[in-house]
Order: sequence, then C-alpha cells, then structure tokens
Amino acid sequence: MPTTTTTTTTEATPLAIVATGLRKAYGDKKVLDGIDLTVPQGTIFSLLGPNGAGKTTAVKILSTLITADAGDIRVGGHDIAADPQAVRAAIGVTGQFSAVDGLITGEENMLLMAELHHLSRSEGRRTAAELLERFDLVEAAKKPASTYSGGMKRRLDIAMTLVGGPRIIFLDEPTTGLDPRSRHNMWGIIRELVSDGVTVFLTTQYLEEADELADRIAVLNDGKIAAEGTAEELKRLIPGGHIRLRFADPAAYRHAASALREGTTRDDEALSVQIPSDGTQRELRSILDWLDTANVEADELTVHTPDLDDVFFALTGETTVPHQPAEALR
Ligand SMILES: Nc1ncnc2c1ncn2[C@@H]1O[C@H](COP(=O)(O)OP(=O)(O)OP(=O)(O)O)[C@@H](O)[C@H]1O
Ligand SMILES: [Mg+2]
Repeated sequence: MPTTTTTTTTEATPLAIVATGLRKAYGDKKVLDGIDLTVPQGTIFSLLGPNGAGKTTAVKILSTLITADAGDIRVGGHDIAADPQAVRAAIGVTGQFSAVDGLITGEENMLLMAELHHLSRSEGRRTAAELLERFDLVEAAKKPASTYSGGMKRRLDIAMTLVGGPRIIFLDEPTTGLDPRSRHNMWGIIRELVSDGVTVFLTTQYLEEADELADRIAVLNDGKIAAEGTAEELKRLIPGGHIRLRFADPAAYRHAASALREGTTRDDEALSVQIPSDGTQRELRSILDWLDTANVEADELTVHTPDLDDVFFALTGETTVPHQPAEALR
C-alpha cells in the first residue's frame, strides 16, 4: 500500500490507531484518566512518561491484552471491543519483558510463532530464516535462547513479533538495556519497518530515541496526556534556550549582570548569567561584541538549546525544571 507523508488531514492518511476517552483504573488508582490517541498509518508514535505513568497499560489495552474501563478504540480499522480477534490479526506486540522461551533455540522460538500464526511448515521455515537473517541471528539460531545476550534476546523478541507480517506494531521499551550500537541498529530496523508502511507505537524511557524516531510524541503524566506533538513542537512549548556566561571575577559578574538585557537571569552564587537566546551565530556575536565593548571577560560561555529532557522535566514535574523563571533586570 502506498504511504503518504501528509499528516495534515485524516482523509489523506488512514488512521492505524484511534482511541478516545481511554480510561483504566486499578482499584482507586486512575492509571489512564480519559486519554485520546491518534496514530496515522505508516508513522511512528511515541508514548513517553515517568515510571508507572501507564505506558505499558496503554499498550496492553490497545493490543487487546487487557480491557479498558471506558473509551472507544479502533486499531487497524477494527473496533477493539466488538472485534478483538481482527485487531489481534493486524498487530504485533513486543512487551516490556521478553516473550522469548530460553529453553529452546532462537529458531525454534521463531517456528513456534509461525505455528501460532497458522503458517504452513514451509512458509514458517522461510519466514523464520528470513527474519533470523535480517536480525543478524543466523549464527545463534541453533543455540538455546537462554545463552543469548540481552541485545540478542531483544532482537529475537522483535523478530518473533514480525512473523505474522503485522501492519501495526507495539514496541514497549524496545531498546531498554541495549548498548548504543544495538540501539542504533534497532532504530534502523524500526525505520525500515515504517518505510514499508508499518505503523509503530513505541514507548521509551530514552527521550533521545523519541526525538530520533517519532513522527509524533505524547507525554503521559498523572493519567493524562500532558502534551502532544512533534519533537520540535514539544521543544517550543517550553522556554529554555539560553546562553550562559560564567565569571571568575565578582566585579566583572556584577557589571555584566547589571547591564545585560531584559529577561536575563542571574545566579549570584555561581557568578553566572543566563541570557535567553536561540543560540544563533548572530546572537552569540552580539554578546561577544558587548563583552568586548564593556571590557568584561567571561570565563566560560555555553549555549543551551532545549531538548526533550527539558520538556519531559517541565511536563512531568519529576524534578525541578533546570531553568528559573525569567527575572528581568533593568
Ligand atoms: N495488574 C495491575 N494491578 C494493579 N496495578 C497495576 C497493574 N498493572 C499496572 N498497575 C499500576 O498501574 C500504573 C501504571 O503501570 P504501567 O506498567 O502501565 O506503567 P509504565 O508507564 O509502563 O511504567 P514503566 O516506565 O515503569 O514501565 C502503576 O502504578 C502500576 O503499579
Ligand atoms: Mg512499562
């Protein structure tokens, strides 16, 4: 099926996942308190949130493993409550915790999945061989999966998920515990899937991963979607871009702090000032020029642009936001 890069209209891009008013509570703990999610076909959607925010709960609901208390959900065009069987046929799920059976070999795990998907013996063998090759597991295929490294197990896990050729894949923290090289390989695999038109719903603890991969990101906090958008849109939501000047000489610091423009914040203890800035060359030059003209010497100059970590901290209240509210100086 041809994919389109348009994300502006729902008509041009069919929706792989639509959930409205999704609710789930355990006892009196509201885990999902009425959330809406929309994922266009052939895109990567990433759900972020602190531990216990409800990411795995959302994945389990959308993949029919548990039922929601309320909400309308369509996955792959099928109503999840009316036709969970059709949803199951359209999706693949790689859970946060491995589904690999350690007692049997990687190849046997794959063949077992093929059987579960009712593939014929020859088709099962062909699919298993193809995927083992693609996930660089050919050498390990005949060894018990219990002897695999964490990264190999993760790769086998995802290979198993792909056996039935699902068009929508749920990946719950697919790269947790992987080394940087394996993580980059996994990103490559995910991108490849999407270029084939597959839709990926991904949860992750690595903001860099969401930044790198996701077309859209939602931040889950306190049962609600705290913000949703592209990585760029989320970064624009919060202030934080600034240039920081640090001084060794208290007199130079005082001079700079009293003369710099509105919006500058000062830290009297660290002898540093933060000037709100987009970090462009022009802005940097104007600050350097000003320092030269005023004959003030900064000992350190750093440029800080907001990243998804800033967004995450600001939205989830996990820790204090690293930027103080602007305290304008005259
Ligand atoms: N079967 C269950 N019974 C009771 N409470 C549960 C159950 N499953 C999850 N919870 C609770 O629901 C909340 C959300 O859990 P969930 O596993 O969805 O979080 P998460 O965002 O995936 O966290 P993590 O980043 O640690 O994987 C937690 O407070 C958890 O304790
Ligand atoms: Mg989880």
